[in-house]
Amino acid sequence: MYFSGFYPMHLALLVVGDNPLPIAWWTPISKEPFRFLLAMDRRNWSLGLLREKREAALHFFEFGEVERVVRAGWASGARVNKAEKLGLELVAAERLASTKIVAGARCVFELAVVRELDEPEGDHVPFVCDVVHVHRGERVENPEPILFLGFHDFATLGPRTRLSPPVRGRRRKRRPRDAAGVAGGEAPTG
Ligand SMILES: Cc1cc2nc3c(=O)[nH]c(=O)nc-3n(C[C@H](O)[C@H](O)[C@H](O)COP(=O)(O)O)c2cc1C
Repeated sequence: MYFSGFYPMHLALLVVGDNPLPIAWWTPISKEPFRFLLAMDRRNWSLGLLREKREAALHFFEFGEVERVVRAGWASGARVNKAEKLGLELVAAERLASTKIVAGARCVFELAVVRELDEPEGDHVPFVCDVVHVHRGERVENPEPILFLGFHDFATLGPRTRLSPPVRGRRRKRRPRDAAGVAGGEAPTG
């Protein structure tokens, strides 16, 4: 049944403790409180780390770092010190007790695990996490995110465009906002 037609995914580098791994299966799930969901493969050593430490750091790097980000997924922290092997510089986090962050990311979200969701059949374990600190990094005019296309394929953005809705003379009656402040028909992000 599984079909990867929903790719590309924006690839992140997650660090738990001092162990980095690339993850494509993450998503924002709330603005207030600001929360992400992480899907952690049961075979990963990081699953035990996440359960033990209950914190992680979600990094977004520019495409220039694609190789080091992806290579962090070719070995397990159970056997290899991946940060050292890949030459990733670990620095202290702001709010995390024993998880480090990697220097040079475009932005980093420090996360505290709120709860592990009960998902006994899935091959990935979902974790709901609060964002406890954001490192915004330097503003990049045209970011080049690492996009995972599936299998062994990666890309970044090509041509960009901005599409604005037409300005009308009369204000349209607004549709009511929901509790999250999202008006019907508007994109919820950004
Ligand atoms: C491009 C890419 C995307 C990945 N996405 C995820 C993911 O979303 N969730 C996950 O648990 N593992 C994902 N993995 C697999 C882990 O990164 C990989 O198994 C890693 O070696 C686990 O490291 P660990 O054993 O030190 O925890 C991905 C790997 C690659 C190369």
